[in-house]
Amino acid sequence: MSLFKWSKGHSVYLPEIDAEHRDLCNLAAELNKAVLARRKPEQLKAILLNLLEAADDHFRHEERLMKVVHYSAFEWHKRQHDTVRKRLKLAIKRVEAGETEVCADFLKFLGAWLVDHMTVTDRMMGAFIRNYLRFNTALAS
Ligand SMILES: [Fe+2]
Repeated sequence: MSLFKWSKGHSVYLPEIDAEHRDLCNLAAELNKAVLARRKPEQLKAILLNLLEAADDHFRHEERLMKVVHYSAFEWHKRQHDTVRKRLKLAIKRVEAGETEVCADFLKFLGAWLVDHMTVTDRMMGAFIRNYLRFNTALAS
């Protein structure tokens, strides 16, 4: 199994979030393929920019959800998102400077981050959101 292949074992039991995670894994797999094929800096940069846009859209989606439910671990969770935003921007700058080897380091970081984040941090968020909805449904009935 590829390092960046989303599987049911990564599910956070929120279908929209799972779909976005699948897209992020696919983009990371695309970057990995491009690195292995020794693609040019412009091609690596294009994939990194796509990844930054998709990651930022996805993180903002989760951050909106967490605000709505007054998630108590919001800051801790957002800090993990901010780490990826920062690392991605740095990787783009370095690729622009011709330092394409940064991509392999970034992928190593991202592979570990994705698994930790999806299976712990996002699952906690998912559980909190489901409980929030159950509680409010119970109040309404
Ligand atoms: Fe998250």
